[in-house]
Amino acid sequence: MSDSPSPHQVCIAGTGSYLPEKVLTNADLEKIVDTTEEWILSRTGIRERRIAAEGEFTSHMASKAGLKALEQAGMTADEVELIIVATITPDTLTPATACYVQQQIGAFGAVAFDISAACSGFLYAMKIAKRLISDGAFTNALIIGAEKLSTFINWEDRTTCVLFGDGAGAAVLRRAAPGEGSILATEMGTDGRLTHLLNIPGGGSACPITKDNVDQHLTTLAMLGKEVFKHAVNRMKESAEKVIERSGLKAEDIALVVPHQANLRIIDAIAERLAVPTERVFVNLEKYGNTSAAAVAIALDEANRSGLIKRGEHVVLVVFGAGLTWAAAAVRW
Ligand code: ACO
Repeated sequence: MSDSPSPHQVCIAGTGSYLPEKVLTNADLEKIVDTTEEWILSRTGIRERRIAAEGEFTSHMASKAGLKALEQAGMTADEVELIIVATITPDTLTPATACYVQQQIGAFGAVAFDISAACSGFLYAMKIAKRLISDGAFTNALIIGAEKLSTFINWEDRTTCVLFGDGAGAAVLRRAAPGEGSILATEMGTDGRLTHLLNIPGGGSACPITKDNVDQHLTTLAMLGKEVFKHAVNRMKESAEKVIERSGLKAEDIALVVPHQANLRIIDAIAERLAVPTERVFVNLEKYGNTSAAAVAIALDEANRSGLIKRGEHVVLVVFGAGLTWAAAAVRW
């Protein structure tokens, strides 16, 4: 689904991120499951990941990232009109994690809801917020990707537990003034025929929480990694190409590609297929692993705060996740 012309331009006015303190290294994982530091690093590029503290929920991380984004945007919480949290690890099934965020940051004038699109959620949220602002329904939005995946991991399954981590990233979107940057194009897609490749089968109405289901690890994440890998590369490439073309850009116009941080081999394959040199592709997965909806948001914030993206430059964001879902955005900073 692509953009159609809209009356107001929308810019990214601030970014923020939060990572929990606790570090879980590959060497630590060697003590938990039958794996090696070498296997994890060579197959994924991940060295360590962060794990939320007990009592630290998705909403707490989301709020901390959100407040940093607001601070950078020069806004206070009471000015926020819309909060969208993208997560597959909500504090509770209902109400939405975004409602807890509203409460924690004190944004009581905001409409708040969650979306569930796995690793693609942050860019789904960006497209929704961009459209709601450009149509005039709101003048700003706080969009957040936040996950406490450590709760939903089977810590006995070496094929998944080495891949994921906890964290949150956020961005403030608002109506752009003339001459400011803007989100040029957004794109998203879904293929529900592939729900079986990556899912948390239990915990919902189809497979309720029972002792048996929990004992069989049905309330934790399951993945057919090889299949996911194949689809990820193709869909991310197509999606990125669409927003690049719609924005009237060429590969050489892109200052930075910020991709979903799941696997270094996927990122390298995307860079090659988009003909963007690897030094213009942002990577931080060695520090955090795959934080699902938070990953691209944390990466964008780190790229922004480290001065890798300058005003007027073009950034392409591209993601892929369970669903299957995918999305991309081209932004003039
Ligand atoms: N340590 C040691 N050995 C392992 C481990 C481990 N942690 N995990 C798997 N292995 C073994 C397997 O058992 C297999 O052994 P066998 O050959 O004796 O059967 C061997 O390593 C190879 O396993 P593969 O699954 O074929 O390994 P592959 O090279 O495909 O790498 C990986 C696996 C890293 C999961 C890769 O497929 C991948 O990254 N896929 C994409 C996953 C992804 O991006 N998911 C996130 C999507 S986003 C979201 O929505 C959450």
